[in-house]
Amino acid sequence: MDKFIIEGNRPLSGEIEASGAKNAALPILCAALLCDEPLRVTRVPRLWDIGTAKKLLAQMGVEVRQPAPDELVVNAAPITTGVAPYELVRTMRASILVLGPLVARRGEAHVSLPGGCAIGARPVNLHLAGLAAMGAEIRLEGGFIHARAARLKGTRIVFDTVTVTGTENLMMAATLAEGETILENAAREPEVADLARCLKRMGARIEGEGSPTIRVRGVKALHGAEHEVLPDRIETGTYLVAGAATRGRVRVNRTDPSLLDAVLVKLQQAGAKLSLGADFVEADMQGRRPRAVNIHTLPYPGFPTDMQAQFMALDCLAEGVGTIRETIFENRFMHAQELLRLGADIRIEGNTAVVTGRERLTAAPIMATDLRASASLVIAALAAEGETFIDRIYHMDRGYEDIEGKLARLGARIKRVSKLL
Ligand code: EPZ
Repeated sequence: MDKFIIEGNRPLSGEIEASGAKNAALPILCAALLCDEPLRVTRVPRLWDIGTAKKLLAQMGVEVRQPAPDELVVNAAPITTGVAPYELVRTMRASILVLGPLVARRGEAHVSLPGGCAIGARPVNLHLAGLAAMGAEIRLEGGFIHARAARLKGTRIVFDTVTVTGTENLMMAATLAEGETILENAAREPEVADLARCLKRMGARIEGEGSPTIRVRGVKALHGAEHEVLPDRIETGTYLVAGAATRGRVRVNRTDPSLLDAVLVKLQQAGAKLSLGADFVEADMQGRRPRAVNIHTLPYPGFPTDMQAQFMALDCLAEGVGTIRETIFENRFMHAQELLRLGADIRIEGNTAVVTGRERLTAAPIMATDLRASASLVIAALAAEGETFIDRIYHMDRGYEDIEGKLARLGARIKRVSKLL
């Protein structure tokens, strides 16, 4: 398993470019299952999860070509099966995003239930309830979701919890359903809107994406298209927080500041001097220690749960006490145990963490437990005194493209050690 060795206590300084958003690329690749013509996707990030998505599509007989490192052409014309096997689904829960397109396009799908996840139970009941409401017959057997429908019928679906992939799955299914589907209490994340933009390029009729009510009028067929994935707002935020935690100055180019409002407010409260442009954001701490901030995660446009762990690392080093309330997932504080090993002062009370900032953290061997927790540990290690070893960094490879390269460009001293066993 690969480890990172990070020599800390060095302010980050410099500029990097954002990659395409993982959480937009994944549903968009699955959207190719909705038609029999090639979907050309550009600005696809080179990530472990994208590799898993490619394998998942290819084992169904779907043609996946990669004419350039960040470009995929997916053509579902040769598809032979609608099965998503357990060995792939258990490594990437987003595999559930093939369900809606397969039922809509082929009338059936056999998708392994995702199983548990480190950060929470993460059931898919709302995905299934929505498909059933559209007329699909759903059967759970042998750890699989077996879904069938001659043709889905449009209907009104009210999500009792805001679900990002639930909204995406049902929006994709609705594009080929008979009649109109209305999704109420829909997720408003920018990645949902990006998927809708791609579906509309494929001929879908969608209104209201990015608002709590999405209307989809079903059409007979969709066609191929081209789509460039929007910039990754969570990657952007992660590097800005790394700059702030190390009292440095980081600028992220080829991004979109308007996707990050709630995060930028918190960076400002922490004392960062922000400069914004149409496609860049810079956060400059001017060498000062950050101030503690209070975080309360909510569905978009509220503060994103995917940025919670990164701000916990910042609060560990900040002046004052910060409280972090996680309302989306029930077990998303696992990074806290590892941060304590670096000397952090964190008290967990239910879904709230109370963090008392320390002037300095000190290096110790730590271990990543999930994707955003690993980002939190890297941020803390970059600020800590001494050399920190972080184990199981495959978690980070799932969602951050060229981590060492981007951090090195910001002046970090980071090395990947690949252990054979
Ligand atoms: C998406 O996961 C993201 N993944 C997650 O990013 C992100 O943390 C999450 O949205 C919240 O923003 C992708 O887009 C691939 P949800 P998703 O369905 O769709 C409950 C990362 O770090 N729920 O919005 O799986 C669920 O348990 C990953 O990149 C149900 O109860 O999350 C959770 O409490 C981690 N029933 C809440 O809703 C359902 O059927 C929000 O989950 C579905 C969800």
